[in-house]
Amino acid sequence: MNRAAGDIPIEPFPDAAPAPLPDEDRPRVLLVDDDERNLLAIATVLEDLGEVVLARSGEEALRHLLKGEFAVILLDVYMPGMDGYETAQIIRSRDQSKGIPIVFLSAVNKEAEHLLRGYSMGAVDYVFKPVDPVVLRSKVTVFVDLFAKTKEIERKARAEQALLDANLRANAERLRAEQELRRAEQREAAIIQSLPMVLYLEPFDALPRRPTYVSGDLKAITGFSHEEVLDSPSLWSDRLHPEDRERVAASLETRRTTGRSAVEYRWQCQDGTYRHFLDQAVLLKDAEGKPAEFAGTLTDVTDRRSLESQLIQAQKMDAIGKLTGGIAHDFNNLLAAVIGGVGLLEKRAVLEDEERKILGMTRRAAEQGTELVRRLLAFARRQKLEPHPVPIGSLREAVSDLLTHTLGGLVEIEWRVEEGVWDAFADQAQLELAIVNLIINARDAMPAGGTVTVIVENRASGPNQPATLPPANDHVLIAIHDTGTGIAPEDLERVMDPFFTTKDVGKGSGLGLSMVYGFAQQSNGTFRIRSELGSGTCAELWLPRAPADKVAALAEPAEVAPAGPSRPLRILLVDDHEEVRAMTGAMLEGLGHSVAGAANGREALQALREGACDYDLMISDYAMPHVSGTEFLRGAREICPGVPALIITGYAEIDAIGDRPDDVEVLLKPFTPTALEAAISRICTSTALDG
Ligand SMILES: Nc1ncnc2c1ncn2[C@@H]1O[C@H](COP(=O)(O)OP(=O)(O)OP(=O)(O)O)[C@@H](O)[C@H]1O
Ligand SMILES: [Mg+2]
Repeated sequence: MNRAAGDIPIEPFPDAAPAPLPDEDRPRVLLVDDDERNLLAIATVLEDLGEVVLARSGEEALRHLLKGEFAVILLDVYMPGMDGYETAQIIRSRDQSKGIPIVFLSAVNKEAEHLLRGYSMGAVDYVFKPVDPVVLRSKVTVFVDLFAKTKEIERKARAEQALLDANLRANAERLRAEQELRRAEQREAAIIQSLPMVLYLEPFDALPRRPTYVSGDLKAITGFSHEEVLDSPSLWSDRLHPEDRERVAASLETRRTTGRSAVEYRWQCQDGTYRHFLDQAVLLKDAEGKPAEFAGTLTDVTDRRSLESQLIQAQKMDAIGKLTGGIAHDFNNLLAAVIGGVGLLEKRAVLEDEERKILGMTRRAAEQGTELVRRLLAFARRQKLEPHPVPIGSLREAVSDLLTHTLGGLVEIEWRVEEGVWDAFADQAQLELAIVNLIINARDAMPAGGTVTVIVENRASGPNQPATLPPANDHVLIAIHDTGTGIAPEDLERVMDPFFTTKDVGKGSGLGLSMVYGFAQQSNGTFRIRSELGSGTCAELWLPRAPADKVAALAEPAEVAPAGPSRPLRILLVDDHEEVRAMTGAMLEGLGHSVAGAANGREALQALREGACDYDLMISDYAMPHVSGTEFLRGAREICPGVPALIITGYAEIDAIGDRPDDVEVLLKPFTPTALEAAISRICTSTALDG
């Protein structure tokens, strides 16, 4: 269709233009017309309202619409190719552009039919050519304003949303922080709760002491709740151990000037027991620097104290043991000489009855001395032990036999042996003696009679065993309970000391528990006593469980050795102690043997080298200077391998004599001629000496 140029007379716009918006915020107007002059004219009219984008065809308009937003589209109806109606239809069909108002520009066809078609295609208005700039501007202004307002509302909505989001984020952040804080507080509270400790605050001047704040489980540690402490003002000072009062008061007084204190004391808990507490505090000042309150901790250190005192006790026992062992060894040698000498006199000398009586008394005294020394050696862990698996059944029988005449009618023993209890690994005779000792102690503690309960139980490896035992090993626990007088706390640390007794002179030697202690230690077990004054005592003997292979070996019957010979032998006797050597020599000669003596290992080895090997037996002392008994025997075996040997010793350090050759027997000093003869006889049998 044809349109004449100058169809649209453009009149200059009268009003002054408002200040233009910045480019990115300016509303855009899409102007679609195939006539270049119309485009120019209208663009000029609208210039200051917004950015006017020009399109010369429907297609170009659609392209622009794909790229950006527009406040309004001014669309020429009649264009070659795609006309305004078609273009409007496509614009309305696209999501991106369907909301943009379309104003048709039409020069002709004002008929209602055309107008209707235009509206049905999505037009919101019509402007007729020639365009009146005022009318056009006012119409476009409406849409541009609408667009600007819509944008403004959108912007505000976005800003509000952003604000809302930020607020929400901040809230969530705060919530998370609060939760984290609560969790941290709960964690700390749980840690403090599980420690044997409480934290407290108490006023600077408060006397009697009453904490205003307590955290941690006061009830679990002391048996009293914070409320109970507050309700009873004198509770803390009343329950302080009398012996600790003065010291604690002094410490509390000095902390007022020094600003800090650390004091340990015994305090009686609700269950009546005294526990050791470490009480530490520092002074807190107020804003003006004046003393306000003390912040402190109360820690239960009872277990630590008890471990420390156990250690000190063990060290003390060890020291006494060493001392005792040394003295006992020397006494043993001297008693050997006395008993040997008395024995020889009784045999050889022609004596009056009176003299024989005196000699008998001397011998008995020496024998009692020997018994005393034996018990001391047991305490010093130097007795000769032969550990074997001990079935608890046979132990019970033997102990009952030993006690039948001793216990008296008022006291009875009740055995409670766990089903399937293991064999203990110990020297049976010494174990019997230990239990008899403990039962007699229990009897003595119950002068009015009662029941001694012996409980035997398995204690499998693990942390529930005394700390001094290897936790990886199984043990058998033999516990002797009584309901007697009990032991005072201050005596409890000393009852195992040798010669500690509360019994009347002549009634107790004070060596019973020492022996049991030494025996348990030497048997790789342990011994401990728990007692409460007035309620009774429990003595616990922990012994290792017998190894499986040893138990099996026990089940096979051992061969019974036949009795040995008593033909005269040529014997080499080595002992550095002159009297003992003389006495032993005399004893051997008394038994019909001939004896060559040597004062030490070196001399004896020399004699062997020179005199060849015409001895039937070598007897040597163990503890000798320079060359020990076992060293001498090893040397001797190189010179004359076939000669059997016996070690005699007053020093029952079996471990040290452990490096002797296998077939060498050990005989403890002092010994009787009979014991010596029996030992020689055993050796002769096992080495077929007589053959
Ligand atoms: N079951 C017990 N009840 C109460 N006190 C005990 C008990 N066992 C031991 N004691 C105390 O320990 C002390 C030492 O005991 P120990 O067995 O070492 O020596 P003893 O019995 O006095 O003398 P010994 O046993 O040498 O004849 C006893 O004197 C006694 O005071
Ligand atoms: Mg005793």
